[in-house]
Amino acid sequence: MQLVKIRKTKPQKGILKYAAAAIRDGKVVVFPTETVYGIGADALNRRAVSRIFKIKGRPADNPLIVHIGTEKQLRLLTDSVDAVSKKLMKKFWPGPLTLIFAKKDAVPDNVTAGLDTIAVRMPHNKIAFDLARLAGPIAAPSANKSGKPSPTAVGHVLEDLTYKETKLIEIVLDGGETKHGLESTVFDSVSKRILRPGPITLKHIRNIVPEANYATASPDKPASPGMKYTHYSPKARVVLFIGNHEKIVKKMKELGNEKTVVLDLKGNKREVAKTLYARLREIDHQGFEKIFCEGIEEEGLGYSIMDRLRKAASKTFTFP
Ligand code: TXA
Ligand code: MG
Repeated sequence: MQLVKIRKTKPQKGILKYAAAAIRDGKVVVFPTETVYGIGADALNRRAVSRIFKIKGRPADNPLIVHIGTEKQLRLLTDSVDAVSKKLMKKFWPGPLTLIFAKKDAVPDNVTAGLDTIAVRMPHNKIAFDLARLAGPIAAPSANKSGKPSPTAVGHVLEDLTYKETKLIEIVLDGGETKHGLESTVFDSVSKRILRPGPITLKHIRNIVPEANYATASPDKPASPGMKYTHYSPKARVVLFIGNHEKIVKKMKELGNEKTVVLDLKGNKREVAKTLYARLREIDHQGFEKIFCEGIEEEGLGYSIMDRLRKAASKTFTFP
């Protein structure tokens, strides 16, 4: 594995060409996107894709997101692009919106975990975008170990990898901290439901698709396959407190000890989203055992932040 620094704006062509050639050659490459870091391989190469699952320790029934750099590449993945998706693509691509399409037979089954649909996005980060233009379609889940918070900086990627796993990666592109810090919004244009909330909010989508809504999910019927796993979990236990502030403070005092830390989510939501995963990882390094977290309003980006916290939480207290 090589670790190479690359400029976020005007990424060096030589580095991009090297990484693109590696992908075309069936190798695995780690790169930044505007959401989180991705670990990518040629989406049309089954063996290359299987290495991603191996490195991440990802369950085989959790499908990947495919990154494209041109609309022509979309035609390698699907034959049917509906009118709603077309409008959304026009408005939000390149950007942190993933859309679901009927998949072509040419796409290996492991990319979609056997589903007949495929998740696709065109990333906005210049490094990811250029790399996808040169070597797309690129299948790339978040570059964390399965079950860990997604990486928003290269250090997070490296700390998750064993020495053996680094051997399976050709190159890691260090393009600095990611912009949004939360994974892309996943939207299904057929059901008009948000399967995974993210940086593009319901309000943004409703400007284009007025009937859009959040998917309702339950543990036995997840909105999207990946949503059934406990995601985003640091080692410390996350305890979420929702509702009446005074009661929450009282309960926190009652339950907390010297190994407890309070994660404050007040303030600018974009900043909270951007730094959330890094803060969870940092708390782990400090050796805390419990993370107490008071919920924020589930509105706009707040909804996406709370989605991740609910998934990270091992217990939730609600005070009406
Ligand atoms: O921002 C992102 O989307 C990042 C960067 C690297 O682009 N990628 C990412 O990938 O978050 P990953 O693998 O960590 O999450 C993929 C999500 C999972 O929740 C998975 O279930 C869902 O996308 N997904 C993939 N294919 C799907 C499909 N055909 N139908 C429904 N959901 C799908
Ligand atoms: Mg992930």
